[in-house]
Amino acid sequence: MQGHMVYRAPGFEAGQPTGRAPCAGHRIRWEANRIVSGQIDTIKQGACEMREFDRDLLPPEQFQIMRYSERAFQAVGRNHANYFINELGLKPTDHVLEIGSGNGRIASALAGYLEGGSYTGAEIMEPFVEWCQTTYRHYPNFTFQHIDVYNKHYNPSSSTHACDFRFPFDDNTFDFIYLTSVFTHMHAKDVDNYLSEIHRMLKPGGTVFITYFLIDEATKAQIESGESRRKFRLFEEHSYTDNPRKPEAAIAFDIQFIRSLYERNKLKIVDVSLGKWRSPEKEKHIGHNQDRVVARKG
Ligand SMILES: C[S@@+](CC[C@H](N)C(=O)[O-])C[C@H]1O[C@@H](n2cnc3c(N)ncnc32)[C@H](O)[C@@H]1O
Repeated sequence: MQGHMVYRAPGFEAGQPTGRAPCAGHRIRWEANRIVSGQIDTIKQGACEMREFDRDLLPPEQFQIMRYSERAFQAVGRNHANYFINELGLKPTDHVLEIGSGNGRIASALAGYLEGGSYTGAEIMEPFVEWCQTTYRHYPNFTFQHIDVYNKHYNPSSSTHACDFRFPFDDNTFDFIYLTSVFTHMHAKDVDNYLSEIHRMLKPGGTVFITYFLIDEATKAQIESGESRRKFRLFEEHSYTDNPRKPEAAIAFDIQFIRSLYERNKLKIVDVSLGKWRSPEKEKHIGHNQDRVVARKG
């Protein structure tokens, strides 16, 4: 993991940014949405200020993961931050955990937002953690922590498997936990343990946002008919890959199986929205490619 190697996320495509520049340097009105009994309903939260994007947080070549342009890197972060704030009600004072924080793609957008709250990134690629620690030194409420967990692609030298891992954080610590494009590279038993850990670390009432590739009957039909660009095939019970030689490149799960894992781990699903990855076009909609599951700890 050294030198000037470019880290490409297996199965994760770069695309064109959508929309305008981030909520930069001007006041924006925002509405936070509160999730109630299986629905997302809107409550007004008033005005909030997001600072201008800090270009010092852009990763240099050797810390690229997906070869995004500068504009696309910012757009992905902004899209997620806007979704967290406007749809899921993330507050500046919340305590946030990102698992699989990579090169800070989403953190960079939250750096202009969290105030009074905090951000913790947990990541298995140590050089990326060190780069983030140095780069975010002017953001005292942002910390990045290396967790030495095995992933065949991202951290193959570790002997600790994700299914046995306990995160170094106390119970009931975080208001908001998110993972983007992380469970799409992990096996079912690892996902199960992480969901149990997420439940442990979330405060009661806390929110967890995770992206997936989810397989339902309609998606199976789209794959069978050739409509879907991705051709996921079953490789383990409940799990699919479109790269049998290297499943971790992209792993999909049966939607009902994921629902059962949330239930077992006492996380109440409040919203599932399907992304555009199953369309015939190349993934160019940075905003919503993967499927999104939002849940709360009761
Ligand atoms: C495609 S990258 C996405 C990075 C970041 N989440 C983003 O959206 O920009 C996948 C990330 O998941 C991390 N990862 C893979 N397996 C992990 C595990 N078991 N625990 C924590 N992070 C993991 C990788 O190191 C990598 O940073």
